[in-house]
Amino acid sequence: MTFRFVDPEVGFTSDVIRDPRRFVGRTALIQDSIAALNSSQGLIAIYGKRGVGKSSLMRQIQALATGNYELVRKAGLAHLIPSRPRKYYTVYYACDSMIKDASELIKRLCNDTDPEDGLLRLVPDQGKQLSEFSRTNEDQVGLDLKLLKWGNKGQDAQKYSSCVPGDLIQTFRNFVSSIVESNNRLFSKRDSVLILIDEFDVIKDKTGLGSLIKSLTSDKVKFGICGIGKDLGALITDHQSVARLIEQGSVNVRQMSPQETASIFETASLLSGGLLKFTISAVERIADLSEGYPYFAQLMGKACVTEANFRGTNNIDDIVLEAVLDKIRTGRAFPNLESQYQNAIGSSDDRALLLTLFAEQSRDTTEYDASIGRVILKQSRSAALDLGIDYIDQLVPRLIEERYGPVLEKVPGTRGSYEFTDPVFRCYVKLRKVGN
Ligand SMILES: Nc1ncnc2c1ncn2[C@@H]1O[C@H](COP(=O)(O)OP(=O)(O)O)[C@@H](O)[C@H]1O
Ligand SMILES: [Mg+2]
Repeated sequence: MTFRFVDPEVGFTSDVIRDPRRFVGRTALIQDSIAALNSSQGLIAIYGKRGVGKSSLMRQIQALATGNYELVRKAGLAHLIPSRPRKYYTVYYACDSMIKDASELIKRLCNDTDPEDGLLRLVPDQGKQLSEFSRTNEDQVGLDLKLLKWGNKGQDAQKYSSCVPGDLIQTFRNFVSSIVESNNRLFSKRDSVLILIDEFDVIKDKTGLGSLIKSLTSDKVKFGICGIGKDLGALITDHQSVARLIEQGSVNVRQMSPQETASIFETASLLSGGLLKFTISAVERIADLSEGYPYFAQLMGKACVTEANFRGTNNIDDIVLEAVLDKIRTGRAFPNLESQYQNAIGSSDDRALLLTLFAEQSRDTTEYDASIGRVILKQSRSAALDLGIDYIDQLVPRLIEERYGPVLEKVPGTRGSYEFTDPVFRCYVKLRKVGN
């Protein structure tokens, strides 16, 4: 077949995945999500490492919640779709580190005017116009209500009659309790509101969040939270208070299996209309190098397509992959990861070498074992000495300092044991050649 230029973004993306056609694997998690959505109460809690695919799963849950089960059919799980699935009006909010605590979070939710995901768009008000919509350029995805226009009341939450000045929690309750009834009068019938909160881990003071969520959860309101963490306790400190809510909705997103990673490439080939072809051996190598982190696989996929375009071919084989790996080795492939790398090593080849030793020491597997993925300082000492680095203790601090990343963090309750804060960065360091 003759060569055609392919836009790398056609098959690959480093964004959160909304379009179910791009979403691969995760069958068991989808199954759990259907169950969680179809129970009348309960809290959905999604946790796992950075770059593993949590937010993408959360977006798929949002689509399921609105009644779009395309993903489930695609995964061959149509038999799991209830005859009358519970349907939700959905809110999606991503936290940032400026949110100090619970009341700040509620305040943000009450003031979120995002036209596709914000809470205020659902709150009844004569001054605004809602419309049922399907997300632009991804037809059929996440059919939900979109705010067309704010009226003369503007975007000021204070002007709602159900707003109780000085009492955020009550205002939130009033807002939320009005949503289902008032929107059902205008639109298709839905059962409840689903409030999805992403990046939940960045909220500094999580005191009382669990019991707050519990008290706000009802037949008409369900919460879903998502964030980085090894377990539920990392997300909600007072998780005992939500223990019973969470029975069905606890979703631990782990690394993808090599087969799941391979599906990313099958999907990319499909999305390109069959134009892109990947050899089995190239895909297997990428799956191995990305260690189950779809983020790295997507980056590699994009880089391979760019390289193949450059070479005038649509066949991605070991030769193309090798050229990409060569660019990674010399820091020319992924500018973001490279600047993280440079920032961390601070123009010290010795520190770069040490970082590489650390990265090689640990490897995540899909098996659950907390100690896998750890870096034990002691274990790299002799290797470092062999390489002529004899002042390790002066090299390490920069790696754990916040303003330089941090790329490592101490594992609480251990001595001299660290973990890469970003497993994708660790994959990168393994491939990066020192001193180039
Ligand atoms: N199920 C999936 N299928 C294909 N790619 C995925 C999937 N889940 C995540 N990705 C890709 O992995 C990267 C990280 O996903 P994201 O959901 O942002 O992870 P997290 O929220 O855990 O950091 C993105 O590039 C996304 O496109
Ligand atoms: Mg995320």
